[in-house]
Amino acid sequence: MKAALQSIRARAPQARPRIAVLLGSGWGGFSARVEAAVRIRYADLPGFAPAGVAGHVGELWLGRVGPAEVAVLAGRRHAYEGGEADGMKTALAALHALGCGALVQTNAAGSLRADMPPGSLMLVADHLNLPQRSPLVGESGDARFVAMADAYDPGLRALAHRAAADAGVTLREGVYAWALGPQFETPAEIRMLRTLGADAVGMSTVPETIAARWLGLRVLAISLITNFAAGLSHERLSHAHTLAQAEAAAAGAEALLAAVVRAIAAAEPA
Ligand code: HPA
Repeated sequence: MKAALQSIRARAPQARPRIAVLLGSGWGGFSARVEAAVRIRYADLPGFAPAGVAGHVGELWLGRVGPAEVAVLAGRRHAYEGGEADGMKTALAALHALGCGALVQTNAAGSLRADMPPGSLMLVADHLNLPQRSPLVGESGDARFVAMADAYDPGLRALAHRAAADAGVTLREGVYAWALGPQFETPAEIRMLRTLGADAVGMSTVPETIAARWLGLRVLAISLITNFAAGLSHERLSHAHTLAQAEAAAAGAEALLAAVVRAIAAAEPA
């Protein structure tokens, strides 16, 4: 992590980010909203794992969104790529060491709720770690026993709801179930997840939330619903479908994300 931190400091000596933003599938266009950005490829940062999925560029952008100083992780390493759940841990640790106190995550997800169709935005209120994998395996010391109640910060969620209301955007809230992937779920699995209390399902976010809480970052996560989950509609699921659906809703989602980031910065001046 120290090597990555030094490398970031050398390339962006002025950067004092307070908010880390992690862009998931379909959210990449948000980068265009980052002003005066220094761009660093993950490949040039020791310990930053490459993001090998279409729609994930694998770059760190340091700059501003209005008055908010941000560090944008454009692309994530998924646990299904190499099997490890700690792919984003070094990146998050480096941004924490650089001064970030909050992590705003985004993802694409499938909906399990009839009242949450594709194009909807859902704030993650809680999660189900279905694979029961952790980025903290191998850590030592008592700090690894992280409390996960209110992992998705209630104060930040209240801020996000206010920002959405001000922008006239409908923002739902629900439980996000992490499925390892990369295959989509079966209809039987989706029926099981409904029984378990899931509102949305996706292949990311949970490991990063665990790592961030361990580091002490406050976490917020927003899902862009790109489809009804398997068996709930006749759509044929594919990554191309996810990206196409996300693109259709991206402008509104990115505007909300910018408003949320500004609201966090206004609430927590550096
Ligand atoms: N399942 C898992 N991950 C997803 C989905 C889904 O239906 N949609 C977008 N990401």
